[in-house]
Amino acid sequence: MAHQIALIPGDGIGPEVSRAVQRILKAAGLEIVWHELDAGAAAIEQYGTQLPEHVVETISRLKVALKGPLTTPIGTGFSSANVALRKKLDLYACLRPVANLPGIKTRFDNVNLVVVRENTEGLYSGIEHEVVPGVVESLKVSSRRACTRISKFAFDYALRHNRRRITVLHKANIMKMTDGLFLDCAREIARDYPDIEYREMIVDAGCMRLVQEPERFDMLLCENLYGDIVSDLTAGLVGGLGVVPGANIGDSVAVFEAVHGSAPDIAGQGLANPTAMLLSACMMLDYLGETEAAGRVRTALSVLLDSPQTRTRDLGGSANTETFTAAMEAQLRSGVTSK
Ligand code: NAI
Repeated sequence: MAHQIALIPGDGIGPEVSRAVQRILKAAGLEIVWHELDAGAAAIEQYGTQLPEHVVETISRLKVALKGPLTTPIGTGFSSANVALRKKLDLYACLRPVANLPGIKTRFDNVNLVVVRENTEGLYSGIEHEVVPGVVESLKVSSRRACTRISKFAFDYALRHNRRRITVLHKANIMKMTDGLFLDCAREIARDYPDIEYREMIVDAGCMRLVQEPERFDMLLCENLYGDIVSDLTAGLVGGLGVVPGANIGDSVAVFEAVHGSAPDIAGQGLANPTAMLLSACMMLDYLGETEAAGRVRTALSVLLDSPQTRTRDLGGSANTETFTAAMEAQLRSGVTSK
């Protein structure tokens, strides 16, 4: 039976990389009915909002969405549709697998880790106020419910994906109550998973270790702010935001997305690299149980990234969006096998 998936092509290069991914998944033999939805700048003119209610309703009903980058207009009073989508759908876990890719030379080899970030509270709760003129406060909120469910999410993910070790990055030495609660909850959940090694590291020391010996890390579990920073830091270890996938996941709904932006400087020129969006689509296929197809797509991608002729320009190659996509289609139709 065909999968029913919501697709937000997004702004800027979003539609270009989305079309590429649709073609590549079709070439991989997947039957998908795409339900296209406008959000972000693309929705403002038609609906007067970045995130129309029917977009949220459709994703809630279909349970799975693939999303392109959305432009956040600056200085217009519109807040980020990405943040609103996470809140409305209660997508509490942000997942970023970070691994070296063939053909993308970086300072480190053998990086293969996953960052799990709590997406709903901490300093991103948005509770800020002015105490007296010249003095402002921003509240860091930590709840047992949110810390427990993100910890459980991380350990369940580790079990399903054969990950061996989870390291919590924290600052409980200073923020004894908020980060202390996060540690309490993580420790409690860790006791239910004796086969997964549990570690804790103070976030600043953890960042230093990450840029010295990233290959020693397996999974990282972080509250919101640390997770935001650490997920970009780790993306930098393997070639940057242009090559890493991401997902925001809740109990019953999941939205998969490339983590790069809408790249207005190259939009409409046929130069966009679909790799990150494609790897996000592979995460989506894994989530849907299509692991064999996801494996074939990743293998075909590895073959293409290994050669400058089929790498896009941002990765030092000579391909454009069309030649990359056509090469992926040809590679998949030639019948490469799953890794
Ligand atoms: P950006 O990621 O769009 O661009 C940074 C640089 O990377 C540019 O030179 C761009 O050409 C290049 N780049 C990004 N993706 C690429 C791809 N797939 N292929 C080839 N080159 C690529 O970041 P920027 O310029 O800071 O943001 C532009 C817009 O995107 C803003 O409105 C921002 O709010 C939005 N944005 C949206 C995100 C999302 O929806 N998840 C995430 C980050 C930014």
